[in-house]
Amino acid sequence: MKKQSIFDDYQKYVLSTYTRIPVIFVKGKGMTLIDITGKKYLDFFPGWGVNNVGHCHPKVMAGVRDQIDKLIFVPNNLYHPNQAKLAKEIIANAFPGRVFFGNSGAEACEGAIKFARAYGKGARTEIITTQNSFHGRTIGALTATGQPKYQQGFGPLLEGFKTVPFNDIQALKSAVTDKTVAIMLELVQGEGGINIAGKDYIKEIRQICDQNDILLIFDEVQTGMGRTGEMFAFQHYGVTPDLMTLAKALGGGLPIGALVVKDDITDTLKPGMHASTFGGSPLVCKAALGVFKAIKSEGMLKNATAMGAYLTDKLTAVKQKFPCIKEVRGLGLMIGIELTMEGKPVVDECFARGLIINCTQGNVLRIMPALNVTKRQIDQALKVLRKALEKATTDK
Ligand SMILES: Cc1ncc(COP(=O)(O)O)c(C=O)c1O
Repeated sequence: MKKQSIFDDYQKYVLSTYTRIPVIFVKGKGMTLIDITGKKYLDFFPGWGVNNVGHCHPKVMAGVRDQIDKLIFVPNNLYHPNQAKLAKEIIANAFPGRVFFGNSGAEACEGAIKFARAYGKGARTEIITTQNSFHGRTIGALTATGQPKYQQGFGPLLEGFKTVPFNDIQALKSAVTDKTVAIMLELVQGEGGINIAGKDYIKEIRQICDQNDILLIFDEVQTGMGRTGEMFAFQHYGVTPDLMTLAKALGGGLPIGALVVKDDITDTLKPGMHASTFGGSPLVCKAALGVFKAIKSEGMLKNATAMGAYLTDKLTAVKQKFPCIKEVRGLGLMIGIELTMEGKPVVDECFARGLIINCTQGNVLRIMPALNVTKRQIDQALKVLRKALEKATTDK
């Protein structure tokens, strides 16, 4: 198929809800993506946080190949060993509890919202979320998302949500009422610009929740599966949530979402109260088991911590040379570079030079390479980034 005819078919047949870069990718391996012309790209934003173990990791691929020949799907009124194994693996790595499987981050967050409503039994219905958060595009997750730009044109949104400034404990305390049933937030806001929750802030929120029987929901859709150097970001904080949402990297590229619920409240949802046809199929669960295996057996958490520190140090040095860099911040391999100018020209120039990074909030470059990234690949990426910054600042 010719390049242009692919673009034409998208134009004609695919709803244009995305701004797309006009490049067609056909192959991926580890940190590398290859386009239809054979050009190689170093991917420092693999799959928007999906490919934490790199593209087509052998352990994920082997599992998928094995499973695909046996059974792809069984509905959730039947049993399959892979779902049991994956739920056990998630719990073993998170906290004692149980798991509900869906297909995406938004669906996991919808599940958390429904769970909170059920927990409140109609008497308590308010959920507090934070400004600049991102929880997904379905109407509940969208209402929870503290960014009006995503909500524009989709009203009326759900009732019962309050949004407070992030990292502001007083604002949060003032928002709590006797109707509050849950507080939902990301520990590192991804789409919001790599904003890191303070440790004391999270500890105080846990106390507020404990004192008022409020559910604490951590959205780990982007921070989960080793991204920050721990399997889950909450493990940096010494604070365990009541509910945790997962998706993105969990399936290694196959669609999966998970709502993880702490042990003592699991019976809030009874049979028939929540469901998802495709949730936790044998195939996606096998892929997710491969992701866990890859992260654990290849020391990826340790590597993410070490490479996160290396990359942050190097970026801090780059900052000295480029006054357009306001701040470098991050946790593990979830790194933001806040600029005093638009980030798009930098991202575009990197892309033209074969490096994929992202920009969020207009001026925060987002860098999230696979957890097994090497120093050599980081050095290679930094060389390109420096050139792109030089060009963007001279063109300005
Ligand atoms: C923190 C967070 N929650 C939820 C979502 C929504 O996930 P999905 O796009 O899989 O619905 C995202 C997506 O970027 C996210 O970053």
